[in-house]
Amino acid sequence: MALFLLFFLFAVSLRLVFGDSSTTSDLLWPQPSQPKFGTEVYEVDSGNFVFNTTSASTLLKSAMDRYYVIIFQSPAPFFPSGGATQPKGPLTTLYITVHSTDESLNLNTDESYYLNVGGNGASITATTVFGAMRGLETFSQLIYHRPDGGLAINEVTGIYDKPRFQYRGILIDTSRHFVNLHTILTHLDAMVYSKFNILHWHIVDDPSFPYESYTFPDLAAKGAFDHEHIYTQEDVKTVINYAYERGIRVIPEFDTPGHTQSWGAGQPDLLTPCYANGQPNGEYGPVNPILNSTWTFLTSLYQEIDNVFPDNYIHLGGDEVSFTCWQGNPDIQAWMKKMGYTDYAKLEEYYENNLIDLVNKLNKSYVVWQEIFDNGLKIKMDTVIDVWKTGWEKEMDAVTKAGYKVILSTCWYLNRISYGEDWKDYYSCDPQNFNGTDDQNSLVVGGHSCLWGELIDSTNFMSRMWPRACAVGERLWSPKTVTDVNDARTRLLNQRCRLLTRGIQAEPVGPSYCNDEWHGP
Ligand SMILES: *[C@@H]1O[C@H](CO)[C@@H](O)[C@H](O)[C@H]1NC(C)=O
Ligand SMILES: *[C@@H]1O[C@H](CO)[C@@H](O)[C@H](O)[C@H]1NC(C)=O
Ligand SMILES: *[C@@H]1O[C@H](CO)[C@@H](O)[C@H](O)[C@H]1NC(C)=O
Ligand SMILES: *[C@@H]1O[C@H](CO)[C@@H](O)[C@H](O)[C@H]1NC(C)=O
Repeated sequence: MALFLLFFLFAVSLRLVFGDSSTTSDLLWPQPSQPKFGTEVYEVDSGNFVFNTTSASTLLKSAMDRYYVIIFQSPAPFFPSGGATQPKGPLTTLYITVHSTDESLNLNTDESYYLNVGGNGASITATTVFGAMRGLETFSQLIYHRPDGGLAINEVTGIYDKPRFQYRGILIDTSRHFVNLHTILTHLDAMVYSKFNILHWHIVDDPSFPYESYTFPDLAAKGAFDHEHIYTQEDVKTVINYAYERGIRVIPEFDTPGHTQSWGAGQPDLLTPCYANGQPNGEYGPVNPILNSTWTFLTSLYQEIDNVFPDNYIHLGGDEVSFTCWQGNPDIQAWMKKMGYTDYAKLEEYYENNLIDLVNKLNKSYVVWQEIFDNGLKIKMDTVIDVWKTGWEKEMDAVTKAGYKVILSTCWYLNRISYGEDWKDYYSCDPQNFNGTDDQNSLVVGGHSCLWGELIDSTNFMSRMWPRACAVGERLWSPKTVTDVNDARTRLLNQRCRLLTRGIQAEPVGPSYCNDEWHGP
């Protein structure tokens, strides 16, 4: 009896270790909509495999080059269930069809694709080149190592896949610590592996101003930590182009009027001098809205931002404005009196309205933190409101009732660490989970996770970001009905191992191992 029990336990543990209950969809992250798999298995080998397309797109060409390397030079996952069926003769071709030559990236870009794997080859059909890229990612994830060696792929009778949300972002903060260019580019690669499409670049803030403005070079010369901790125009172009080649939009955030301490050194008179006992005390507050010089400066700076960052949206910030310094400054007091303002919220409103007018003239659309909406400012109807505070359900309800597009970030602050598998909390947060009508729900365009930089630099950026951000990636891509945490966990463990094989230093999810462990960058 004891022996039998032992044997039974042994068999059960074998089952867990070798996972013979694993299915083809265990290989995929994020879960596609409506995947349908057949029973055939095909060999895949680099010697006789080609991508075949009639598209002349150089974007597609470079994506195919990248995926050829990923498929044949990164170790593929070991997939035990692939041992059940003898593989058929090799799959030799992936046909890629792209219907549209439109290669613009915006909130309407079609990222859907259809993927099929069968005896006559595999095929991806997409409207845009970006849809084809998402399909290539899925295709690459389906290729695995059989127990007897060699690469294989299981039959796919059809995956019709498309994102649930158009705005699937990650915020990086390069002011509180500098994050080197190599890390940012590697992060963009990792984003693609979970089908993210927006880099929200919180590029400057109180601690440092690393963006090298060509109009105002002193901002970085005097506001960066030092001259090594700077993103040159060349660096910024590199990030934008690298992202675009992967179907990722770069939305920069130049947050004002608060969070601007680092701007002051390179732009005298921009910040409000604070007072104590009737004297300036040497400290500075938010941007000073009452000086003409402020508006000449902001006009030129935002013109430059418009030129440098091609996306049709920029993030204007607008969060956490402290009134203390404004309240103590006699010039501002006098100006308030002249204007008939008694409430400093009015001064903030004056600032934001002027800024918005200025940006409207540039024909740019904007994302703003929720305070701008809460304060009732006259924003354009295509503004995207970024909800970040607790009580987000009420806020999303109010924002969408007012007819504005909305994104959620409250649930996904990856910098807040805790012991255990906190990815499950990220995974379980659904941005449409508030009491809205269908019309309101349709204004939820997505969300983004955040990795605020107080305790993050290039040493721990990757491992703190990944694979926990993957949970957000699946929430924003996969259908609303994909909510099974246990199923997700199996796939997330695989995705984490995949990230390691692709050079992403992703931290563990929970007790587990990878066939190919991390051997260093
Ligand atoms: C691509 O496929 C078409 C149709 O099967 C074939 O005629 C063509 O030779 C292929 N091109 C390449 C480069 O394999
Ligand atoms: C600031 O600009 C306003 C409006 O253009 C103008 O009336 C005013 O004289 C200017 N103030 C100074 C100090 O230049
Ligand atoms: C502003 O943007 C709209 C829509 O993108 C475009 O049709 C229009 O030509 C643009 N105007 C200017 C002055 O750039
Ligand atoms: C939605 O409304 C119902 C009934 O009024 C309430 O019980 C529920 O808590 C609300 N849900 C949210 C997320 O606000």
